[in-house]
Amino acid sequence: MNKLLLGLLLMGFTGIVHAAGDAAAGQGKVAVCGACHGPDGNSPAPNFPKLAGQGERYLFKQLQDIKSGSRPVLEMTGQLDNFNEQDLADIAAWFASQKMTVGAADAELVARGESLFRGGKLAEGMPACTGCHSPQGTGNSAAGFPHLGGQHAQYTAKQLTDFREGERVNDGDAMIMRSIAAKLSNKDIAAISSYIQGLH
Ligand code: HEC
Ligand code: HEC
Repeated sequence: MNKLLLGLLLMGFTGIVHAAGDAAAGQGKVAVCGACHGPDGNSPAPNFPKLAGQGERYLFKQLQDIKSGSRPVLEMTGQLDNFNEQDLADIAAWFASQKMTVGAADAELVARGESLFRGGKLAEGMPACTGCHSPQGTGNSAAGFPHLGGQHAQYTAKQLTDFREGERVNDGDAMIMRSIAAKLSNKDIAAISSYIQGLH
């Protein structure tokens, strides 16, 4: 292989691997986020997502999407404007290094939620959530599949509804989450979100 081609290939690869995040540097940049997401990323309010222990790659992508507007978050308008790519990588590394707290599931919804999470809806071609988000709901950090277990049910339900209604469209060209959410009724969403809140 000639040197020029090798050089171009290497440049291509380093372009894919984003700047490594520095969690310690990130801690110094998140003071303003704590008001909504909690100082360590375990938000006290059910409509604000927990960020603690979330996958670093997923967090970094969401921060870029929110900053660029491809995932509009009204409450965060302007919050990320002064952060460059390295700042976002550091912030992602900081929240990823924290531990997500777990809530409780509504006992009456557990059976339906668990069956959907672990079994999907085979007759309708909807896969189980476990395939990508793992049986414990910890996700797949390297693949960018988010950690779900312990997340506030209210937040999760809003995301699934937003995917279904086309209000959240940053799940890529394959539209993975939009096509899955299209198969979920409101009752399915309530059950699965409650189940996820208690999942660990
Ligand atoms: C005024 C409240 C508020 C502040 C301050 C705020 N956020 Fe958010 N953030 C939200 C809300 C609300 C959402 C979820 C919106 C939705 O329903 O989609 C969110 C979503 C996110 C997400 C996506 C989480 C996921 O699981 O997909 C990330 C990452 C995030 N915020 C990071 C930050 C960071 C970093 C800061 C500080 C620089 C910050 N936020 C400041 C309210 C806030
Ligand atoms: C084929 C893989 C795959 C399957 C199966 C899958 N997901 Fe996802 N899910 C993803 C990916 C990838 C994302 C991140 C999209 C993005 O980058 O914004 C995601 C995002 C989510 C989010 C948003 C998380 C957040 O913090 O905002 C929720 C909630 C979710 N999935 C729930 C589910 C549920 C419930 C099921 C089963 C009914 C399911 N997913 C099945 C791949 C999958």
